[in-house]
Amino acid sequence: MKELVEKLYSTGDLSDDELKSLIECNDTETAEFLTEKADCVRRKYYGNKVFLRGLIEISSYCKNNCLYCGIRRGNKNAQRYRLSREEILSCCENGYSLGFRTFVMQGGEDSFFTDEFMCGIISEIKNKYPDCAVTLSLGERSKNSYKLMKNAGADRYLLRHETADEELYKKLHPSEMILQNRKNCLYNLKKLGYQVGTGFMVGVPFQTTENIVSDLRFMQELKPQMIGIGPFIPHSDTDFKNFPHGSLELVLRILGILRLMFPKVLLPATTALGTISPVGRELGLKTGCNVVMPNLSPVAVRKKYDLYDNKICTGEESAECRGCLERRINSVGYVISQERGDSLEL
Ligand code: 5AD
Ligand code: FES
Repeated sequence: MKELVEKLYSTGDLSDDELKSLIECNDTETAEFLTEKADCVRRKYYGNKVFLRGLIEISSYCKNNCLYCGIRRGNKNAQRYRLSREEILSCCENGYSLGFRTFVMQGGEDSFFTDEFMCGIISEIKNKYPDCAVTLSLGERSKNSYKLMKNAGADRYLLRHETADEELYKKLHPSEMILQNRKNCLYNLKKLGYQVGTGFMVGVPFQTTENIVSDLRFMQELKPQMIGIGPFIPHSDTDFKNFPHGSLELVLRILGILRLMFPKVLLPATTALGTISPVGRELGLKTGCNVVMPNLSPVAVRKKYDLYDNKICTGEESAECRGCLERRINSVGYVISQERGDSLEL
């Protein structure tokens, strides 16, 4: 197995079968070697820097009904909220003073956030903070909508493809959601000049190793600037409530593989990873991750953006994720960068 890691490290790719055996390989020695190589590559391109993204969860309304998600339309128990323009701006003000230079506005697919509203707030943020990047994560929208928001000043867009496999996609989503539409959105975003982030959940019900290999192949084709992966975590108000969460070791192996396959990509140590293990994000950082996305949402709404059970950073004690994260990042030998943190040319 060590030879496979060597080969991936020196060539950046493996055959499908080789990838499959590496993804499934659960011996500690290989895992340690993969971590070491992934860290070596991340340090070559990004040194010991970790980039911050301030996550502002602008709406828990969603017109979609993804089977895994706690804020799916069909969840009558979900608490719904949307932030006002003023609330969003105040999150940015707070974030800017804490040193954030990227603001991510993320939400469910909520028609309240029209192009007009979004363009207004994007240009206002860009005017106030010209040294900051604005990232959007608002799901599938028309190409024209993406274009208007780009013209208003948006720099980046996050839209996980969730799975590149048609069959699995259908098992995770209601029939009105179509994988090809999602892929088209991602290609449109790229064409419009956004820096694009995509990704998938690890250990989602019915996922096979072949499915994960398809995800890697799809991303080789798309060439995203960022890849967000985290474990699937069940939500008690969904049909998937009795499935186990994705395994920490598997997420870490995939992170290591991603760093070796996509040396310059931005790779976040996700909140979901921090939720399944108290040191999940730290282990992610040691295995190639170079981004963290602390929550900047008003503490009063954090529990309502409830994608999965036991999400961290939602309690009163978390008003200050910035400080908490800085200690965590430093504890594993990295430092927070004050830069916008654009990806290197791919
Ligand atoms: N567990 C883990 N991640 C989830 N997401 C949605 N529901 C869950 C869950 N139950 C992820 C999806 C989505 C992102 C915003 O959160 O991948 O794209
Ligand atoms: Fe949010 Fe620690 S990072 S409380």
